[in-house]
Amino acid sequence: MAKTTKLALVGAGQIGGTLAHLAAQDVFDEIALYDIAGDMARGKALDLMQAGAVEGFEARIDGGDEASLVRDADVVIVTSGLPRKPGMSRDDLIESNCAIIKKVGELIKTQAPEAFVIVVTNPLDVMVWVMREVTGFPHVRVVGMAGVLDSARFAHFLSAALGVAKNDISCTVLGGHGDLMVPLTGYSSVAGVSLDEWVRSRRLSGDVLDGIIERTRAGGGEIVKLLGTGSAFYAPAASALRMARAFVRDEKRLLTAAAWLRDSYGEQNVYAGVPVIIGASGVEQIVSLSLSDSEQAAFQQSVSAVRELVAVAKKML
Ligand code: APR
Repeated sequence: MAKTTKLALVGAGQIGGTLAHLAAQDVFDEIALYDIAGDMARGKALDLMQAGAVEGFEARIDGGDEASLVRDADVVIVTSGLPRKPGMSRDDLIESNCAIIKKVGELIKTQAPEAFVIVVTNPLDVMVWVMREVTGFPHVRVVGMAGVLDSARFAHFLSAALGVAKNDISCTVLGGHGDLMVPLTGYSSVAGVSLDEWVRSRRLSGDVLDGIIERTRAGGGEIVKLLGTGSAFYAPAASALRMARAFVRDEKRLLTAAAWLRDSYGEQNVYAGVPVIIGASGVEQIVSLSLSDSEQAAFQQSVSAVRELVAVAKKML
């Protein structure tokens, strides 16, 4: 019998629940929804299994608060933690979410020691660092989901402004998942033509592009404000699933993720968003792009903000 592919979702809230639904229709045979709110996770699992009878998926979905649910998962996606409230920055979540990630990191270490771990909880880059410290897993098996989402937001706004299908747009956003993230116009393209070229040929005004970049940077906050309670979940769930699929299927996809920079992009020993190749070994390559002086400076500034938060987290571990 072919090996079953198991996804464990730590946190069965908005993103976890959405992920379970998407994953059941994708590459996973078995999905576990683990949450300290056990009955809620049980309820979502039952509801989703019933959805399978309508939608025709056969994936097995279990939910609850037993640590054993996570056992031997191939991929663990971590969304446990508080989301933002209107007016909060992602960094304001550090205290509460650091304690939660520490606890679930210990659980993952014992229950799923071989898993590829994708962290979604904010403040993202520092939570990935905490997860890696607690599990002791190889850095290539602990990553953060932010770049796929930030790039998707950038692509959506460009698509709307230019009237071009999202499928024909490819975006690259570097740095930490915060207001200092660095969208790269030279490595983002519409119909294969770089954004810099779109501006040079006057098919896109520089002001409009600047507005789109600002809106991308503040993309999460815009949704937090509109929702009133909680933060974005559909696009974050879809983004994390794309990374999980790349690992399980050994797709060698080029995706931006919060990855461990041992010595790349002028930075050492820090997690930050860069383009990587994801395949069966996890982060198989960090793809180096040459940056302009101003992009390099913006990247450094963004990474400095991550380092400051890591220093805060270190005291809490
Ligand atoms: N173990 C397991 N689950 C936990 C734990 C824990 N120690 N602590 C909290 N949780 C669960 C909560 O019970 C809740 O169901 O995490 C879930 C989080 O779900 P939501 O509050 O709906 O948050 P969500 O929108 O899914 O976002 C989760 O991702 O994008 C980030 O900023 C966002 O940090 C937030 C995280």
